Amino acid sequence: MRRSISLRLSVWYASAATITLAVLFAVGYQLLESYLVHGLDQLIAAEFRQVRARLGPHYRQLSARDVNQRIQATSGYDSVLFYIDVRAPQDDAIFASKNLDGRWMPEVADRHGYSATLPGIGRLRIEEFALPPFVVLIGTSSQQIYEDLDGYVEICVGLLAAMFGVSTLIGFALSRVALRPVRLIRETALRIGSDNLRERIPVSGVRDEIAELARLLNQMFDRLESSFNAIRRFTAEASHELKTPLSLIRLQAEKLLMKGELSVECEESVQMQLEELARLSRIIEELLFLSRAEARVITLRLTVECPRAFLGAFAQDARVLAEHRGRCFELHCVGDGRVLFEPQRIRQVLLNLLVNALNASPAGGRVRMCSEISNGCWRVSLEDQGPGIAAADRERVFERFVRLDKRALDEQGSGLGLAICRSIVELHRGRIWCEPACAGGGLKVTFVIPADALSMPEPVSASGWAEAHGTPGAVGT
Ligand SMILES: Nc1ncnc2c1ncn2[C@@H]1O[C@H](COP(=O)(O)OP(=O)(O)OP(=O)(O)O)[C@@H](O)[C@H]1O
Ligand SMILES: [Mg+2]
Repeated sequence: MRRSISLRLSVWYASAATITLAVLFAVGYQLLESYLVHGLDQLIAAEFRQVRARLGPHYRQLSARDVNQRIQATSGYDSVLFYIDVRAPQDDAIFASKNLDGRWMPEVADRHGYSATLPGIGRLRIEEFALPPFVVLIGTSSQQIYEDLDGYVEICVGLLAAMFGVSTLIGFALSRVALRPVRLIRETALRIGSDNLRERIPVSGVRDEIAELARLLNQMFDRLESSFNAIRRFTAEASHELKTPLSLIRLQAEKLLMKGELSVECEESVQMQLEELARLSRIIEELLFLSRAEARVITLRLTVECPRAFLGAFAQDARVLAEHRGRCFELHCVGDGRVLFEPQRIRQVLLNLLVNALNASPAGGRVRMCSEISNGCWRVSLEDQGPGIAAADRERVFERFVRLDKRALDEQGSGLGLAICRSIVELHRGRIWCEPACAGGGLKVTFVIPADALSMPEPVSASGWAEAHGTPGAVGT
């Protein structure tokens, strides 16, 4: 599965933004808590000042009973807000406010202000004051503060979830914009192939890393184009240059034969030379065709044809050829329509596929051709009962001079047939591939061309074509 950089960037962006906000919320929680607790501490301190004022400056001379009575008088009205307990040295209880219901507030060593939970009362903020020889503990409920802080946490969690969602969307949109030049590079690079080496990646005026990458790729394509052109020129020129001396040799050999002065042995040898010369000429013609097709200098003579009639005529020849080789040939046509193609070239494709299939089929074997017109495409397949081709070689056989079994197959073959078929089909903006035959062993070679080749957009990439015309995923590229 392809992993999208846009998606990853947006998740990273959203995570970073959400984590930053979470840290801010946590700091906010701490600040808010200490601010609210500080407010409670101030209230408690005010209450202590009131208690101390009530006891007066000479409180040390007061009896425990007097102390109790005076504090009682002060704290009576404040019992809704404050919990007070006063202790003498050695923890002798002097006073405990009524709202404590006989409980004692806990003391924490070395701390003057702390929080504690009292059963039946709840969470308290407690302050410890020294009023020698007494210790005064005053507490007030901090329940409301923590309820408010819980509300704060709930709001923060909601905001964080919203932040993650919104920042994912913003991050995705931003990364799409930022990665647009990369997508452009990808799309152009996909279109550039051996048959379309002139196109270049558009380079933006901004001097950034992506523009630099596009420039480097363009330089690489320049080098590739010039080497491809050099190879093509060499093939075309070599084939062209070889044609004339070969014709001369053939003429000389034919002259020798016509004179009739040769011994039987010499005549046989000249005949053999003529056969080999014919084969060599054919290879040269085919190589010339391939290099011209690659250079896109071949113009098809397209005509609107009825595939059923065209294949019907081809089937007559195919049956004769098959019978001659001791095999049988069948044709099945599905769907009617008109297709734009060059009959002579498509016939060349069919003939090569047929000869291959007859070569591979066992004696008495059946070669079946199926034609179908549907979804604006013409699909032709040829199926045989031969040994088939291993998956690893199915794409290789479309390369030049690839012959898998030189002994079993026709020795006259040069291994250029399928390469030529692919060139012709691609000139018709189509695709050709092979796969195992549907019934048992054997090979099925299929080609598909758009019914109206002219309506196809200018050079399509292999994958683009396959997507647009729904050829199977197994299609080799
Ligand atoms: N139907 C088939 N079954 C099995 N193998 C096949 C079949 N068609 C092609 N091949 C293999 O693919 C190779 C390439 O085929 P291709 O048509 O390109 O060349 P060729 O038939 O050997 O020679 P040419 O077509 O140039 O006379 C063949 O040599 C053969 O090994
Ligand atoms: Mg062949």
